Amino acid sequence: MPCILVTGGAGFIGANFVLDWLGRPDAAWDALDAAVGSPVTDHVINIDKLTYAGNRLSLDALDDDPRHRFVRADIGDRAAMDHLFERHQPRAVVHFAAESHVDRSIHGPAAFIDTNIGGTFTLLEATRAYWQALPIPDRAAFRFLHISTDEVYGSLGPTDAPFAETTAYAPNSPYSASKAASDHLVRAWHHTYGLPVLTTNCSNNYGPYQFPEKLIPLMIARALAGEPLPVYGDGQNVRDWLYVGDHCAAIRAVLARGRVGETYNVGGWNEKTNIDVVHTLCDSLDALRPRATGSYRQQIQYVKDRPGHDRRYAIDARKIERELGWRPAETFETGLRKTIAWYLDHPLWVRDVMSGAYRHWMGLQYAA
Ligand code: NAD
Ligand code: DAU
Repeated sequence: MPCILVTGGAGFIGANFVLDWLGRPDAAWDALDAAVGSPVTDHVINIDKLTYAGNRLSLDALDDDPRHRFVRADIGDRAAMDHLFERHQPRAVVHFAAESHVDRSIHGPAAFIDTNIGGTFTLLEATRAYWQALPIPDRAAFRFLHISTDEVYGSLGPTDAPFAETTAYAPNSPYSASKAASDHLVRAWHHTYGLPVLTTNCSNNYGPYQFPEKLIPLMIARALAGEPLPVYGDGQNVRDWLYVGDHCAAIRAVLARGRVGETYNVGGWNEKTNIDVVHTLCDSLDALRPRATGSYRQQIQYVKDRPGHDRRYAIDARKIERELGWRPAETFETGLRKTIAWYLDHPLWVRDVMSGAYRHWMGLQYAA
C-alpha cells in the first residue's frame, strides 16, 4: 500500500490530521478513488517521540486499524529515521513534530533548538538520502511537507497589513526563532538538493485534543475546575484563530496540489483579542455548564505579561485560496462550539493529560 510518514502525529494537530486522513472526509478523495478505479487511502506511519505533548489516547480510535502504524521515535535519531524510510517507502512526509509552546520556550529553549532545528535537519537528511535513491518517477512525485507557523513573521501593529508569504521573517521568541530556522533549512534543501518540499505557515489552531497549556483548552479546563483564568498583560494581544479541521483540510490540499518549493499561509480570517476569546468562552460555558452562582467571567485574572509577547498576528490567506481553492469552513463561533462540546464530552482525556508533569508546569508558569 502507498503510505505517508507523519511526524508528531500524537500531538494536537498531527492527531487530528491522522484521524481526518484515515477518515477520508473529503470529496477530493472520492475523486481520486474514482480516477484510479479503487479506493486509495495511503497508510500512515506515525512517528512520535511522545513528549509531554504527545498522547496515544488521542489515537485510540485507530487501535485496530491496519492502515495506521504508530512508532515511538525521535526525529533526531538518524538511524531510526533511515530504518523507517527503508522499511515503509513513503511517498510523502508530513512534518508536524516540534516543541510548540512559546511559554515553555521562554523557560527552557534547549529542547526547541534540539527538535525544531536539529530534529528537522536530521529528518531532512534522512529524507534526502531516501529520496535520492528512488526511481526517477517516484522522485518527482515525492513530497516533504513542513508544517510551520505565522509566528516566524514577528509582530504586527494594529493597522499593519496581515502577513503574506512575502513578509520578511522577524521571529521574536525562542520557539518562533527555532521554527524560522527550520523553515530556512527546508527551503535550502529544495534549492540546493532539489528535494520537493512545501511549507505551510499557519495561525493559532484550536479544537479537539489540544493540550491544555494553550489558551483555549487551558481556559476551558481552568474554568470548569473553578480556578483563576490567567490573561497575560492587558488582554489586548490579537491572534487569528483557525479550527484544526480546517487546517487539516488545508494541509491535504497543499500536499495534493501545492506547487513544489512554495510556501502557503493558512489562516482563519478570525482576528480576536485574547480577552474577547476568554469572554466568549466564559459566556458559552455559562450557557452550557452554568456555575452555581454568577458567571465564569468572575474567574478572569490579569497576570504578568509574557516576556517579548507579540502584539498581533494576522494572516493573508489569499494565495492558498487562489491557487488551491482552500478556505476555512468554520467560523469562530461554530468552531468554538464544537471545541467546547468536545472538552465537555471528554473529561477522561483531559484528566489523563493533567498528570503530575502538567501540574508541575502549571506551578512553574502561574504560581506567582
Ligand atoms: P503539539 O505540541 O501538540 O505536538 C507536537 C508533537 O510532536 C507531540 O506529539 C510530540 O510528542 C511530538 N514531538 C516533539 N518532539 C519530537 C521529536 N524530537 N521527535 C518526534 N516527535 C516529537 O504541537 P501542535 O500544536 O500539534 O503543532 C504541530 C506543528 O504545527 C508544530 O510544528 C507547530 O510548530 C505547528 N503549528 C502549530 C500551531 C498551533 O496553533 N498549535 C499553529 C501553526 C503551526
Ligand atoms: O500563531 C501560531 C502559534 O500559535 C503556534 O505556532 C504555536 O505552536 C501555538 O502555541 C500558538 O502560539 P501562541 O503563543 O499564540 O498560543 P498560546 O495559546 O500560548 O497563547 C495565545 C495567546 O493567549 C497569546 O497572546 C498569549 C495569551 N495567553 C496564553 C496563555 C497560555 C494568556 O493570556 N494566558 C495564558 O495562560
